Amino acid sequence: MKALVLEELKRPLRLEERADPVAGPGEVVVTLQAASLNRRDYWITQGLYPRIRMPVVPGSDGAGVVSAAGEGVGDELVGREVLVHPAKNWGDDPGAQGEDFEVLGMPEDGTFATHLLTTPSQLHSRPEHLSMFEAAALPIAGLTAWRALFTQGELQEGQRVLITGSGGGVALFCVQFAIAAGAEVFVTSSSEEKIKGALDLGASAGVSYREKGWAKEFRSSHGQLDLIVDGAGGSDYSGLLELARPASRIVSYGFTAGAPESLDLFRLFWKQVRIIGSTLGTRTEMEAMLEFISNHQLHPVIDSTYALRDGNRALDCMKNHQQFGKLALDCGES
Ligand SMILES: NC(=O)c1ccc[n+]([C@@H]2O[C@H](COP(=O)([O-])OP(=O)(O)OC[C@H]3O[C@@H](n4cnc5c(N)ncnc54)[C@H](OP(=O)(O)O)[C@@H]3O)[C@@H](O)[C@H]2O)c1
Repeated sequence: MKALVLEELKRPLRLEERADPVAGPGEVVVTLQAASLNRRDYWITQGLYPRIRMPVVPGSDGAGVVSAAGEGVGDELVGREVLVHPAKNWGDDPGAQGEDFEVLGMPEDGTFATHLLTTPSQLHSRPEHLSMFEAAALPIAGLTAWRALFTQGELQEGQRVLITGSGGGVALFCVQFAIAAGAEVFVTSSSEEKIKGALDLGASAGVSYREKGWAKEFRSSHGQLDLIVDGAGGSDYSGLLELARPASRIVSYGFTAGAPESLDLFRLFWKQVRIIGSTLGTRTEMEAMLEFISNHQLHPVIDSTYALRDGNRALDCMKNHQQFGKLALDCGES
């Protein structure tokens, strides 16, 4: 098999030849056809992630075909087209993951490879209307968006929702899911082109977060919101409280722009706004998300696809926030 390996922080991944994995008892081998990137993969290469071990094959998202089944696994799985569940050991509490929770691609070897050794409980059938690349685009970003919007954000049809940094992988799934659920969707983004991309998907309006004082401007043009879903944090975070209507929710799933510089606690308690954290999701939420995208025939937005050997170019694109939607790797094209 071939794999992109992180051997040293802040250095390019290296394409390596490794022994093909062999499925042991209870295990399967998936011959990967596609993988996709998440900002997490970039953070890991920079050492900005807890408990990094090296060498490691990064990558949490993948899709392919089950090519071997070990003892105790039914042969009927072989040949099944699957996408890989991106995390394990959530635990018993749907409210939050337990201490043993892990995300594929650190510490365990992940999907930036031609093959993956895993177990049947980590697999989901590929939704029929999706290509392998679209299926590989889904797991982390789709699941994170699902839980943030619906479980934590309690989004209802007809509500007004703001998705920040809508060109990002998670954010763009939030846009697509919220529109499909009948919400009125607003976005922020870094460029007019990306805002137009969200409007083309059905968003109502968008503003550039690069404009100073955009939150005030947004409020006077578009009013307040029932739900804000944010993965950016940073200096604009406190401004989100201006946009939240009384008794509304702000769901935070990341802090790409860093920690907030301040938080207006008076505005927070006086408006009775709830700030809610969200991380990935359970297998049950993943199944609900897959059913939703099948029912609504949604297709993930893929910005561009790179051969596995060009994975470092994809990481560079992510570093510079150039993409609109997901960056995919062709694992068959190594
Ligand atoms: N909690 C979890 O389980 C979980 C899961 C997945 C991701 N995350 C976190 O969520 C964040 C996004 O992940 P991703 O994989 O979707 O990354 P991504 O595809 O690289 O998206 C990041 C987006 O952040 C936006 N952004 C950058 N600076 C911003 C600012 N100052 N204000 C508003 N938006 C800004 C950009 O949007 P534009 O392109 O529109 O400018 C960019 O595309 C990361 O911090 C990641 O670590 C958390």
